[in-house]
Order: sequence, then structure tokens, then C-alpha cells
Amino acid sequence: MKVLVIGKGGREHAIVHAVSRSKLVSKIYAAPGNPGIAALAECVPIADNKVDELAAFAKEHAIDLTIVGPEASLALGIVDVFQKAGLKIFGPTKDAAQIESSKDFAKQIMVKYGIPTAAYQTFDRYEEALAYVEAQGAPIVIKEDGLKAGKGVCVAATIEEAIQALQAAFSTPDNRVVIEECLVGFEFSLICFVCGDLVMPMQIAQDHKCAYDGDKGPNTGGMGVYSPVRKITDEIIEEAMSKIMEPMAKAMATEGHSFTGFLYGGLMLTKEGVKTIEFNARLGDPEAEVILPRLQSDFVEVIEKIMNHQKSELVWDDEVTLGVVMASDGYPASSTKGAVINRLDQCDGLVFHMGTALQDGNIVTDGGRVLLVSAKAKTLEEAYEKAYQDVAKIQCDALFYRHDIGKKDM
Ligand code: AMP
Ligand code: GLY
Repeated sequence: MKVLVIGKGGREHAIVHAVSRSKLVSKIYAAPGNPGIAALAECVPIADNKVDELAAFAKEHAIDLTIVGPEASLALGIVDVFQKAGLKIFGPTKDAAQIESSKDFAKQIMVKYGIPTAAYQTFDRYEEALAYVEAQGAPIVIKEDGLKAGKGVCVAATIEEAIQALQAAFSTPDNRVVIEECLVGFEFSLICFVCGDLVMPMQIAQDHKCAYDGDKGPNTGGMGVYSPVRKITDEIIEEAMSKIMEPMAKAMATEGHSFTGFLYGGLMLTKEGVKTIEFNARLGDPEAEVILPRLQSDFVEVIEKIMNHQKSELVWDDEVTLGVVMASDGYPASSTKGAVINRLDQCDGLVFHMGTALQDGNIVTDGGRVLLVSAKAKTLEEAYEKAYQDVAKIQCDALFYRHDIGKKDM
């Protein structure tokens, strides 16, 4: 088979890595890919938002299967365009991708079908939002509607913080915010292969959303991750599947938004059981970088089968994978480009490129999150040691990272 992977980040590097291990695949293209991906696939210089050009490329090169990484391509309707052109593509349609692109859309379905989630209200006007926040008190969560790369959320500990977030959200016209009850508990990511009402869970991962050690600082796209997660037992996964992931897939189909692709549940284990923080319409980033390397089943075969409504028995290795994100100084508020990265070849574990570019023969930084440095071991503690040994080998004067990935579970 010829497979095309859409995207250019660490998640897509992990997808390409998984595709490269498939027995069914003879050729991999990535659009646009990145310097890490280039070692495994032919990179095609078409941006991930040029959906018509991507479909034309797939047609011309007789691509058998396209796998979509980024939410932005999905929200633009890449799946609809490919399907119209008779091309096979794994991902939700633009309509179904609203489960991520509109927090309000997802919340309405959750409420209608009794899927556990935080209480919420949606506001289009600043004055009403402000009055609600003042009446509810802190802590409280303010979310801008729409795709924000993990950065449009403020978990406000004080009313002042909440008001600042509201002012920022309403500083642009036509904004809409979802204001939520603050859930307290242990957060984890459960990602499933989905086709209509067929739902197959992957292994659990835990992301670290805050920018700095000790869960301090602003929310980011994720600064580190590990899988599996000891605290999340088989019973908890069973509860999350039967109360959240399966009912949501079924509800989407019943409501006429049938979902195919990777359905990501951002979940919280609370005192009252598992609750939903959010759904995403794609694999997580950095979750994909630690989950997919643990999959021993043939990734492409699993996707082919689920698209034909067939289940697979997923086989996972029993090791722990831990990944540390190295991000540009200033991320998430700002980021730099063009700083040279050396000694990547000294690392023992898998290093995924999240935001790099090739410049004058050097790998350089190219945005917010730059690298995910990972290690596999028998225990979380060992994986932690190995991953940070590799982090220490990498030379670049414009990167920072958290030092405590996985520590809460040790
Ligand atoms: P989201 O983009 O919805 O995943 O939110 C980003 C992060 O903010 C989540 O991963 C949580 O850590 C936190 N968060 C979002 N909603 C809530 C909530 N209702 N209660 C507590 N924390 C939340
Ligand atoms: N790591 C969180 C996300 O991909 O949304």
C-alpha cells in the first residue's frame, strides 16, 4: 500500500513511525512532514491546510490510505474533500470534527446523552459572562470556543484571573466562551480507534499540560507524557469506555454526526467517578509519541479493518514509555526559530520532531514545542532516568523542558 500522512509535528512523526512498521506498506508520503519524518517517508511540500492540493496529490500518486494528524485539517473538511474524490482517508468529516472544534457542540451532546462532564454555560457577551463568573466564584474554568491548540483554556484559581481570561477572550469580536465548573482529580487521556459505533481503546497516557515543573504556569499543548498509567486500572478504563467513549460514539451516530477516526477523551478521575474534560477528533500530541510505539499490532491493518467495521485484538508491549517535550524559550506565549540543535544522534531512545526545520544542513528550532525525547523501560522510574539522560545530551541554547514528567505517579 501507499500511505499518505498529513501533518508536520511530533504526532505525525509517531504516526509515520507506526506506519513504517506495517507489513502492508511499501511507500509512505508525508505532507508536509518534517526533518525527522524525512528519515522514514518522502516529504511532499504541501501544507496541511491545502486540502484540495492534497487530494490532487493523493489521486495522482494512487494513494491507498491517507491518515490525518492535525485538527485544523479536519476542521477544514479534508475528509469530505478526499471522500468526494473517491479517496480513502481515516479521520472524521468536518461535521463530526466539531466534537473538538466547538466546545459548545460537544457539551450539548454530552448533556443530552448523560455523558458525565463538568457543569457549564456558554456566553456570547462579556457582561453576562462576567456576572456568571462573579456569581459562581473561583476556582472556575474559562474556555474560548474554537481550536486553540490547548492554549485557549484558563483554569482560574481566583476571580481576578477569571476576569482577565474573559477580557482576553472578548478582546476579539464574535467570540464565545464556555464557562465550566472546575473538576478536581487525576487527569488522563484515553484515545480510541472509532468507526461509527465501533470503538477500540488504545493504552492510557498521561499528559502534563502546564508549562513548568509542579504543574505551574500557563496551559500548553502538553509538555511531557507517559504510558501506561498505574493509577488508571482496568476497572476505571471499563467505566470510561462504557460511560463516556462508547456512548459518545453512539450519540454522534444517532445525532447524524457519525465519527470515524481517532476519538480522544481528555478525562478526569474524580471522587464521583470518571468525567469528561474534552473530546478531540484526532490523536493527542504528545500522547501519540508514547502510545503508538507500544502498539505491536500492525497499525495500518487495524485502521483498514476498523474502516470495514471489523474489530482487531490490539496487542501492546508491557513496557513503560515516557516522553519529555523540549520547547522554545518563551513558549506558550511566544517562540523562537532558527536555533541550531546538536547531538540528536547521540540519543538512545526515539526522538520525535515536533517543530524543527532544516537550515544550511542543520536541524534548527521552528516553533513552540520542538522535540519529544522518549525512552522505553520496564518501569516508569527507569524510563524517566533514560529519557532525561537523552535530554541532557541534546545541545541547543533556546530550549527548556519540565524536570518532573511522570513524578506524580512514582
Ligand atoms: P482542554 O483544552 O479543554 O483540554 O483544557 C486544557 C486543560 O485545562 C485540561 O487538560 C485540564 O488540565 C484543564 N481543564 C479544562 N477543563 C477543566 C475543568 N472543567 N476542570 C479542571 N480542569 C480543567
Ligand atoms: N496533548 C493534548 C492534546 O493533544 O490535545
